[in-house]
Amino acid sequence: MFKIGDVQINNRVVLAPMAGVCNSAFRLTVKEFGAGLVCAEMVSDKGILFNNEKTLNMLYIDEREKPLSLQIFGGEKETLVEAAKFVDKNTNADIIDINMGCPVPKITKCDAGAKWLLDPNKIYDVVSAVVNAVEKPVTVKMRIGWDEDHIYAVENAQAVERAGGKAVAVHGRTRVQMYEGKADWNIIKQVKEAVNIPVIGNGDVQTPQDAKRMLDEIGVDGVMIGRAALGNPWMIYRTVRYLETGELIPEPSVREKIDVCILHLDRLIALKNEHIAVKEMRKHAAWYLKGVRGNARVRNAINECNTREELVNLLRQFVEEVEAKQQSDAQAV
Ligand SMILES: Cc1cc2nc3c(=O)[nH]c(=O)nc-3n(C[C@H](O)[C@H](O)[C@H](O)COP(=O)(O)O)c2cc1C
Repeated sequence: MFKIGDVQINNRVVLAPMAGVCNSAFRLTVKEFGAGLVCAEMVSDKGILFNNEKTLNMLYIDEREKPLSLQIFGGEKETLVEAAKFVDKNTNADIIDINMGCPVPKITKCDAGAKWLLDPNKIYDVVSAVVNAVEKPVTVKMRIGWDEDHIYAVENAQAVERAGGKAVAVHGRTRVQMYEGKADWNIIKQVKEAVNIPVIGNGDVQTPQDAKRMLDEIGVDGVMIGRAALGNPWMIYRTVRYLETGELIPEPSVREKIDVCILHLDRLIALKNEHIAVKEMRKHAAWYLKGVRGNARVRNAINECNTREELVNLLRQFVEEVEAKQQSDAQAV
């Protein structure tokens, strides 16, 4: 358990913000699997200020997801402050997070995302302006630095703390690394030792045991899980249980995976519409099926489907096939 400002987080497992993934449909599903805190996908400050309909829809939060951290991105103090004020007054988010980690050129060339990491003074300036403009606690999610010659993680986190930020999440890679190489947990440890606000460690937590190792060895307050939760909310549940009891519960059956995939699909349809949801769900369905033997054919078919009925039929049929195969294999032994 830890606190971000006045917001109580009931366990140390945090769902990472992921663009195109962490909308209300997925977040609620992950929350039901026990996440202490869920983070929303990044939202453009300018999109909010220009009343862009798609952007404003991204601000929807179901009460059952709370506590929730809503992330904004932008490259200018003024627009970030105005967007933060909007989120503060018009959403039921508990925490406002500023993105200082996105490595994508489209974002960094506007001075947003990881570009902030090059200047702790600018970080201090923008975070204090946002903190002074809103009531909700403000946090920052950052990478360790821009490249290996510019790793200012400690200075940057200290700037966040001095500016009144209430926590930092640190992904142990530089901007230049994108998602390559290994996350450097030692630098996360240096950050933890240098600030008094909560530090959430992130990067390469693939198993419940990794999460425990990060908490024990790095001493972070929370552990943030991204890619390992794609199509796999059980990762969150298994990690929470492992940290609480030491018990490593088994991976779900294919039937369980498909049932949750369909629940996720139905939530996405309710959030968007069938056409958009089914298209978006293609990638999620592939993630839910990852590692299940013989999934190549069904994955190809999923990529062609356009309606809920088609997608659900494919998934249900696949479960039947897998279970029939499992039964015949068991009889053959
Ligand atoms: C598909 C995808 C989208 C992401 N979108 C965001 C985002 O919107 N905001 C953010 O701060 N990080 C984003 N990230 C980075 C993750 O939050 C996380 O820092 C990174 O994946 C490392 O953690 P992991 O090793 O547990 O995946 C994204 C990552 C992925 C894979």
